[in-house]
Amino acid sequence: MLKRINVISLFPEMFEAMQSGITGRALRDGLISLEITNPRDFTKDRHKTVDDRPYGGGPGMLMKVEPIKEALFSIKESTKENGTISNEEIDPQKTKVVYLSPQGQPLTQQIVKELSDNEQLILLAGRYEGVDERLIEHYVDYECSIGDYVLSGGELPAMVLIDSLIRLIPGALGHNESAENDSFYSGLLDHPHYTRPETLIFEKGSEVSQCVPEVLLSGNHKKIEQWRLKQSLGRTWQRRPDLLENRQLSEQEQRLLQEFIQEQNGIS
Ligand SMILES: C[S@@+](CC[C@H](N)C(=O)[O-])C[C@H]1O[C@@H](n2cnc3c(N)ncnc32)[C@H](O)[C@@H]1O
Repeated sequence: MLKRINVISLFPEMFEAMQSGITGRALRDGLISLEITNPRDFTKDRHKTVDDRPYGGGPGMLMKVEPIKEALFSIKESTKENGTISNEEIDPQKTKVVYLSPQGQPLTQQIVKELSDNEQLILLAGRYEGVDERLIEHYVDYECSIGDYVLSGGELPAMVLIDSLIRLIPGALGHNESAENDSFYSGLLDHPHYTRPETLIFEKGSEVSQCVPEVLLSGNHKKIEQWRLKQSLGRTWQRRPDLLENRQLSEQEQRLLQEFIQEQNGIS
C-alpha cells in the first residue's frame, strides 16, 4: 500500500493546493506522507542555477541534471533513515520514480491502481523543455502523461496523479465505497446522481419542471442498484463505447444495456 509520495519540483509552493479537501484530510490524518524536494536546494553555484542550454542549440532550456540527481539521492537517503511519517520502513523494491511527461503513457484509472501498489512514489515534475534523456533512462521507472496537450510544468500533472492515488487509500474518502462507484473503477462511467429537491423548476421561456427518477424514491435497494448499473452501462455505451470494447459484460449487464438502448429508441 502506498505510504509516501515525494515530488521533485522547482515550485514546491504549488503543492499547497493538496492541503484542501480529501487530499488535505488524508495528509493530516497521516494516511500518507507527501514531501516536496526542490532541486534548487541542491545547486552549488551562487545563482542557484537550475537550467542549462540544450546540446545542438535551439530554443528553450533544460533542467540541469546534477540538482535533480542530488534531490533524488537525498530522498532515497532520507527514506532509508526515516521511512514514513509513522516511521514504517519502505520496501525499496516497492519504490518507483515517475516522470510526468506529455510523452508518457496516458494516465488511466487502471494505471493509478497499479501505481498505488507501490509503497513509495517519487514524482519528477519537469520544467522548461524537460530533462536530459540520460536521466530518464537511468533513474525513471515510468513516464506518465495526463493528456495529449503540453503544460508549462509537471506540477499540475503530479497533483492530478497524487489526488487520484489518495482517493484509493482506504479511509481517505468519507464512504469507503465511493471510489469503487466512481467512473472507470469498474471499467464503466458512473451513473447520474440526484439530490434534493425532488422537483426542480427551470425557467426557460415557459416553465419546465424536472423530477428525480421515481425508482430512486422507491426505497427498493435492489431496484435502485439495477437502475444505477443500467444507467452506468448506458452512459458508457453513449459516451465512451471504447470502454465497453475492453470489458466482458455479464448476462445481466447485457440485458440491462439492451433495455437501456430500447428505452432510448422509444421501445419498451
Ligand atoms: C513545456 S513541457 C516540455 C515539453 C517537451 N518539450 C515535449 O514536448 O515533450 C515542461 C514539463 O511539463 C510537464 N508536462 C507538460 N505537459 C504534460 C502532460 N500532458 N503530462 C504530463 N506532464 C506534462 C513535463 O514534466 C515536462 O517536462
